[in-house]
Amino acid sequence: MKALVWHGKEDIRCDTVSDPEIEDDRDAIIKVTSCAICGSDLHLYHNFIPAMLPGDIMGHEMMGEVVEVGKGVNGHLKKGERIVVPFTIWCGECEQCKRGNYSVCERTNRKKDLADKVFGHGTAGLFGYTHLTGGYPGGQAEYLRVPFADKTHIKVPDSLTDEQVLFLGDILPTGWQAAVQCDIEPTDTVAVWGCGPVGQMAIRGAILLGAKQVIAIDRLPERLSMAEAAGATTINFETESVVDGLNELTGGKGPEKCIDATGLEAHVSLAQPDTIYDRAKQMLMLESDRPHVLREMIYVCRPAGTISVPGVYAGLVDKFPMGIAMNKGLTFRMGQTHVNRWTDDLLKRIEDGQIDPSFVITHTASLEQGPEMYKVFRDKRDSCIKVVLKP
Ligand SMILES: NC(=O)c1ccc[n+]([C@@H]2O[C@H](COP(=O)([O-])OP(=O)(O)OC[C@H]3O[C@@H](n4cnc5c(N)ncnc54)[C@H](O)[C@@H]3O)[C@@H](O)[C@H]2O)c1
Ligand SMILES: [Zn+2]
Ligand SMILES: [Zn+2]
Repeated sequence: MKALVWHGKEDIRCDTVSDPEIEDDRDAIIKVTSCAICGSDLHLYHNFIPAMLPGDIMGHEMMGEVVEVGKGVNGHLKKGERIVVPFTIWCGECEQCKRGNYSVCERTNRKKDLADKVFGHGTAGLFGYTHLTGGYPGGQAEYLRVPFADKTHIKVPDSLTDEQVLFLGDILPTGWQAAVQCDIEPTDTVAVWGCGPVGQMAIRGAILLGAKQVIAIDRLPERLSMAEAAGATTINFETESVVDGLNELTGGKGPEKCIDATGLEAHVSLAQPDTIYDRAKQMLMLESDRPHVLREMIYVCRPAGTISVPGVYAGLVDKFPMGIAMNKGLTFRMGQTHVNRWTDDLLKRIEDGQIDPSFVITHTASLEQGPEMYKVFRDKRDSCIKVVLKP
């Protein structure tokens, strides 16, 4: 089959690889009908997340038709059914899964020994996302093996298009979880850093959850316009002061809730000298991440407020203002998304017409065009916001 394969930094190719096969009774194989490129894939593209190996198949946002099921799937999935695959692989039986903490499932990471060493305690298996999370082949491919498939799926009705449901596997529940973790009250201002696909979903989530005001921060006009279309007020961090803007819009008090939908690759610019410092340290391998957004959030957040972090961080950050966070009494919420915790509710909201996540798609291409589309998405060329690939 054809698949997008990681060969090294900024080197993803559309290769011919072996078709996946059932390896375990709880596996299923799907024929992928649609998959997407995520901001998290860009961190792998730039080799900022450790433990990718040449030959790894990319992709963790995908859906398709079930073409084969293992004996242990026990009727939970049948051939011919149409499913979205959540990027977090979960077993449904461990203590964490029983609590709904699927992204830290204790049983699905098949490289748990490695993960335990690095993290203290390993986390769940993820598709197409490094050997620290199991080294499972991803879904930017014609076919995908889904481990623990009796649990790891979201069945979707034929009445909805691929584009309407594909993002149930990642960015929709990710933006939603980021907003839910803010425990939004009707008097709250929610500020969202980053108006990429995750930020867009977080903005809409915060509005649906009843925030008084949502303020969206980015520098790319097309992304800011998309945030405005949802009802957000916007700040362009390249031309305005984020801290002044947020204080002005909140009567000088700062937003109660702050969401980091940017992650470890904050934009580097002379106007934000700490980003130059971070970039230099990153190049010297003295720091793995560029935490400008975290610093800004901690500084501007209202005392006793909440910092919610869906943005991915890889390792060590420097000059983290712990003293400010502690003294202001801030609450931190973060994590890889517990996808299936949210998807019954979100699918219903899509069916009811309350949300249609397809608004974020700007580019549709073939799998062969995938390597080029990584560059288009990375460089935000052609006003690119979200790429869907059709294997
Ligand atoms: N927690 C999860 O489970 C999960 C799931 C999906 C994605 N993610 C992460 O969410 C983050 C966003 O993903 P995406 O797909 O939207 O990616 P993206 O790269 O398209 O979006 C990031 C946005 O942040 C903006 N940005 C950069 N520096 C900024 C700054 N200083 N202030 C404000 N905005 C800034 C960029 O201009 C860009 O629009 C990534 O880190 C990704 O890895 C996490
Ligand atoms: Zn993702
Ligand atoms: Zn589990």
